[in-house]
Amino acid sequence: MIDTRSAEMAFLSDNPSCNFFCNLYQSTHFQAMKYFMEITDLSFSNDPQINTVLQDFMKQQQIYRAAIKEIKTKLEILDEEFQARYDHNPIHHMEYRLKSPKSIIEKMQKKGYEISAESICKNLTDIAGVRVICNYLSDINRIANLLLRQDDITLVRKNDYVAHPKENGYRSLHLIVLVPIFLAERTESVAVEIQIRTIAMNFWASLEHQLKYKAHTNISDDLGDRLKVCADTITNLDEEMQSIYTEIKNGAHPE
Ligand code: GTP
Ligand code: MG
Repeated sequence: MIDTRSAEMAFLSDNPSCNFFCNLYQSTHFQAMKYFMEITDLSFSNDPQINTVLQDFMKQQQIYRAAIKEIKTKLEILDEEFQARYDHNPIHHMEYRLKSPKSIIEKMQKKGYEISAESICKNLTDIAGVRVICNYLSDINRIANLLLRQDDITLVRKNDYVAHPKENGYRSLHLIVLVPIFLAERTESVAVEIQIRTIAMNFWASLEHQLKYKAHTNISDDLGDRLKVCADTITNLDEEMQSIYTEIKNGAHPE
């Protein structure tokens, strides 16, 4: 039995060790099976109207997968160019996810949007998600700026939680962008949510997310404070690693 809940939570990694799962996830058969299981999950929805909407919407899924591929390729090209020119890879690895039908409907209901395939496409900008894990702090803006200056990328929203962390300590740069997808008979502008963060920020965010999920309810103020201390420690760590990297790069410490 596939745990659809953890599949829905997980961003899939392009780490070689995860390739099998990625390929499996991306395969049409697995997608169809996963969606079928969710649609027929009685604890999810007994509403035939919602199921019809989801079936309609599923026909659009391929466009969101294409948008993920476009962004992934653009970022890989930038990373490879950096490696060739400066002997440095700004990107440590990337992760991707398509929002599950269950999460889509929950979010639509929570926000009070009309439930139709058209309304889902219009109102949700995080159906396609790409997470970019960078090595150093300076890589975050470098990657964001290089992507945003490409002619076919349109920035819809930028939330800079690196410059302005959330109250709980969460840090990442969030971009919502539109990327054109050229289909046989039309071109679609598709929204992709891109989260850019360092390895250290990713470590904190992943564990914080798991802990909140495990707690089933809001975590206590005390535990929240302790997680915030961890976030601050990680901020210092990122800054110190950046400083060491910059000094070495500038030749301050030749061997
Ligand atoms: P959503 O309605 O949840 O999409 O919120 P939003 O549109 O205001 O977007 P926001 O930029 O706040 O967050 C979107 C995504 O960022 C979430 O789905 C998470 O993946 C991640 N995120 C935001 N805040 C936190 C946080 O406090 N902890 C963790 N672990 N992840 C977060
Ligand atoms: Mg979201």
